[in-house]
Amino acid sequence: MVSVVLLMAGKGQRMKKDINKVLLEVDNKPLFEYPLDTFLSYNFEIILVVSKEDFDYVSNLNLNNVKIVIGGKTRGESVYNGLKNVTGDYVLIHDSARAFIDKATINKILELKDNNEAILTYLNVKDTIKIKNDDKYVTLKRDDLIAASTPQCASRKLFLEVYEKAKIENFSATDDISLIEKYRPDIKINYILANDESFKITTPIDYELAKIIGRNFK
Ligand code: CTP
Ligand code: MG
Repeated sequence: MVSVVLLMAGKGQRMKKDINKVLLEVDNKPLFEYPLDTFLSYNFEIILVVSKEDFDYVSNLNLNNVKIVIGGKTRGESVYNGLKNVTGDYVLIHDSARAFIDKATINKILELKDNNEAILTYLNVKDTIKIKNDDKYVTLKRDDLIAASTPQCASRKLFLEVYEKAKIENFSATDDISLIEKYRPDIKINYILANDESFKITTPIDYELAKIIGRNFK
């Protein structure tokens, strides 16, 4: 079975609203329900990771076929709490703030999934990125860069192994595949270009764009 750890336990501080950004609505539907409905259409096991603050609200929505668990202070802690509740052999970890992940991307993941390998979805980098080097910035070659996206996929066993190692070392990362890069460099990572609409809804301008995309998103 395939399981999804769908993350919504953040606060959405950069959105500057008085509620969690993924509870903001587009077409009378909260943002987190867009990826939720997409994943539900596949009969995956869904573990929805919510904050303590949002737990009552989300529970009262009486979502079918969804297991709700409480997240942690960091994204990594939220993922780990989700993973502990997974029963499937293979896991897709997804940021609900990437509300408009499409089925074509998910289908590519399903075709490539292998319990002994991992998958990183990514988006192309549009900007020229510079990295600080002492008191100067130096320019990176854009063609060599990708922006890590989600879903990030691997077997439950592998994700639990690297998350447990990270916990012992107090190592915190902002994505999941980087833990596999660090602790299991022997594992092959496959890269899949995600659909453009699956950008992470982060700031007020992103929400304006989400309202436009959401109207046509099926
Ligand atoms: N997330 C989570 N638990 C946390 C922090 C983040 O489940 N402790 C989730 C968010 O709900 C989001 C995803 O991880 O779907 C990516 O995080 P981000 O876009 O940074 O969302 P927030 O942390 O909520 O936003 P901000 O950083 O602006 O506060
Ligand atoms: Mg955050």
